[in-house]
Amino acid sequence: MSTAASLYVPSAASVPTPTDGRPSLAGVPRPRGRDLSGPELERFVTELAERPELWIHLVKHDATQRVYEELLSDEHVTAWLICWMEDHDTGFHDHDVSAGGVAVVSGAVREERLTIEGPPAKRVFKAGSSFHFSPVDIHRVRHEGSDPAVTIHVYSPPLLQMGAYVIGADGVLARHAQSYREELRPLQAGA
Ligand SMILES: [Fe+2]
Repeated sequence: MSTAASLYVPSAASVPTPTDGRPSLAGVPRPRGRDLSGPELERFVTELAERPELWIHLVKHDATQRVYEELLSDEHVTAWLICWMEDHDTGFHDHDVSAGGVAVVSGAVREERLTIEGPPAKRVFKAGSSFHFSPVDIHRVRHEGSDPAVTIHVYSPPLLQMGAYVIGADGVLARHAQSYREELRPLQAGA
C-alpha cells in the first residue's frame, strides 16, 4: 500500500505455516467446526496475543497508513495483525455478518461506538486489554497516544464485507459496502 486509500491484498507468503519453520496458529485452542461468538473470539484473540512467537516477526509500522498482515484464514475464522501510528483511524464501520474480537499487544487504541444523539461512546484499550463486538455494532477504531500500537483482530464468520459510514452535509447517514480488501478510513461526504 502506498497511500491510505489504496487496496491491501494479503500476501500468502506472510502467513505462517507449519512448513516455514515458524509456529502455526492452527494449533491455538478455539471452538472447532462452527462460527465463534464475540466472547469466544475475545478469548481466542487473547490466546493469540499471549503467543508473540506467532506474529512478532510481522510487526512493522508505517506513519502513512496502518499495516495489515493476515495471520489465519479458514472456514470459520480470519485473524489479522494491525500496526498503528498517530492519526490512524478506521472511520465508522460495521462488519456485515461477522462478529469480532480485538486484543491490544502494545500501545493503545480508542474505540468509539456511533450514537444517534450525543457524542460517540468512547473506550480506550491499552496493551494487555481486549474487547469484542457483534455484527450489529457500528464502531470506529483510532490510534491513541503517541506510541505506536499493535493489535490482533479475529472475525467469525470470516470477514469478507464491511459497511463504511459517512455523514452527509445534510446530516443524513449513509452506508457504503466495501470489501475487506479495501482499507477502512474516514469517508468524506460525497465519497
Ligand atoms: Fe472494526
